[in-house]
Amino acid sequence: MDLQGDILSATTLVPTMPPDFSHLRVAILGAGKMGGILLQAFLKSKILEADQLVATVQHEEKALALSAQWGVEVTNNNVAAVRGADLVLLGVKPFQIADVVRQIAPALRDDVLVISFAASVRTSAIEDASGKQLAVVRAMPNTPSTLGAGIAALCRGRYATADQLLLATTLFDTIGRTVNVDEKHMDAVTGLSASGPAFIYIILESLAEAGVKVGLPRDIATLLAAQTTFGSAKMVLETGYHPALLKDAVTTPAGCTIDGILELEEGGLRVTLIKAVMRATQRAKELASS
Ligand SMILES: NC(=O)c1ccc[n+]([C@@H]2O[C@H](COP(=O)([O-])OP(=O)(O)OC[C@H]3O[C@@H](n4cnc5c(N)ncnc54)[C@H](OP(=O)(O)O)[C@@H]3O)[C@@H](O)[C@H]2O)c1
Repeated sequence: MDLQGDILSATTLVPTMPPDFSHLRVAILGAGKMGGILLQAFLKSKILEADQLVATVQHEEKALALSAQWGVEVTNNNVAAVRGADLVLLGVKPFQIADVVRQIAPALRDDVLVISFAASVRTSAIEDASGKQLAVVRAMPNTPSTLGAGIAALCRGRYATADQLLLATTLFDTIGRTVNVDEKHMDAVTGLSASGPAFIYIILESLAEAGVKVGLPRDIATLLAAQTTFGSAKMVLETGYHPALLKDAVTTPAGCTIDGILELEEGGLRVTLIKAVMRATQRAKELASS
């Protein structure tokens, strides 16, 4: 296997023209942790300018503080925020989505595209709450979107066109990668890639602790653990090789890595991670109604 040759050819990137979103007016309802990450990431990637955006939160004092921090209009008036908007992003908690949609429905333009990134909430629930044939795209992003390293899965509801799904996908492409999936897979995506950063941080933190245990200074141990996690993920993404093949390339017969792998297998790391994603997926199925 010529790992090096394949890696080099796989990393040759073809430059693409940035998409033009300059004519769009965008409202983000519920600019909390995830909504705030998306808003700031869209600004940072220059896909949207501050004067194209309006955001809402629940509390007035929070709106004032965020407005000053981001240089974007932030209010607590959802209805005013969506008036005239081409795109409305829904980022309130899953149990609040239907109420917010009922509240804003009369003020929505007929040709608006609503993108919900709430876990668990089906596109049909949003369409039904609106009482009209609303174009809805459901997206599930994750927090590494902050650095343009996120991944979002997207699917469309009954009334969204393929072009509208493409528009939403292109928007999320600017802050990482995207995949289009059937809606039946969205809870699984939530359990894997939306919850996933938390699982990876625990692995990374444990590797750093391990470094400290074997005598490394904490800052160096953390850097080694983080760059190793990053580099390994990059290898999978850019070579396209199965992770097992890449693992085998690290594992010298009778060397040290195989001894470490034996400990991982005895400790049940694989099964534990599989169960963690299964549990998170199960919980994602329940969130909208709790
Ligand atoms: N966190 C993640 O990693 C992640 C990943 C993917 C998807 N999501 C989804 O993102 C959504 C938000 O999660 P989060 O973690 O960002 O929670 P969060 O930080 O609590 O954000 C929720 C935001 O909604 C605002 N809000 C509450 N009621 C509102 C209303 N009636 N109108 C307008 N804004 C209102 C809150 O305002 P105040 O700040 O004033 O209280 C808050 O800013 C959820 O549906 C979640 O499933 C989260």
